[in-house]
Amino acid sequence: MSRGEEIPELHTLEHDLNNVWASLLGNVELLEIALPDDSPLNEYVQVMIEAIDTGEAITKKVRAIAHGEPIDLIPTPSPLQPATATDDAADAIPDTSDIELHCCVIDDDHRHLETMMGQLLDASSAADALQKMDALYTLSLHHFYREEQVSHLCPEYPFAANHHRTHCALLTRLSYLHATTQCHGLDKKVVVELADLLALHILGMDVGLKSYIASKPDLMGFVPALPPTSVLEAYFERPPSSP
Ligand SMILES: [Fe+2]
Ligand SMILES: [Fe+2]
Repeated sequence: MSRGEEIPELHTLEHDLNNVWASLLGNVELLEIALPDDSPLNEYVQVMIEAIDTGEAITKKVRAIAHGEPIDLIPTPSPLQPATATDDAADAIPDTSDIELHCCVIDDDHRHLETMMGQLLDASSAADALQKMDALYTLSLHHFYREEQVSHLCPEYPFAANHHRTHCALLTRLSYLHATTQCHGLDKKVVVELADLLALHILGMDVGLKSYIASKPDLMGFVPALPPTSVLEAYFERPPSSP
């Protein structure tokens, strides 16, 4: 390809991509309208809007290439760097310590996750943070599976599919932040973002399970068996040996 040469196939690709962003943005905006202003889920909506902005920026580069125009080769910034992720934001991570779902294994996992996040926030080096992220990833994999097995015993719970997709997205995000730390070293903002995402998930989505679990007293002591890691990775659509 020489500069100045039009590439018709890329025009089609650009058009298709723009349709994807328009559809996503329309639905995310509807979701934003439907959510109460004080919902913790608004954080996720903002992340999605930033991701769509980034997708549109990349699509403009596709359009430039389609027209044979030079493009800025500086990588498009990652959309998932929350503006709130500053040192001060560590103090603003929501407190999940009072959350009880009436299921011992889930509540124990949440306390354990909270402790591990605290230790990660205190990580002294990139190597230390990576080790703690590995442990956090494994616990998240186990916890998300256990939580979903409990939710499957509450057939009236209507958000099981969405909850599963959110768990998959959280694991993907954990892997991404692990890779970022591996490439660029320890960044407090990355760790704060992780802690924030997990806390918001517990407050925004897990809490919704509480009333369904409470109506089934047998679930208080239920402990789902864990399948092998390879099965868990496939279940959460993760490549083997993540992160
Ligand atoms: Fe949870
Ligand atoms: Fe969850």
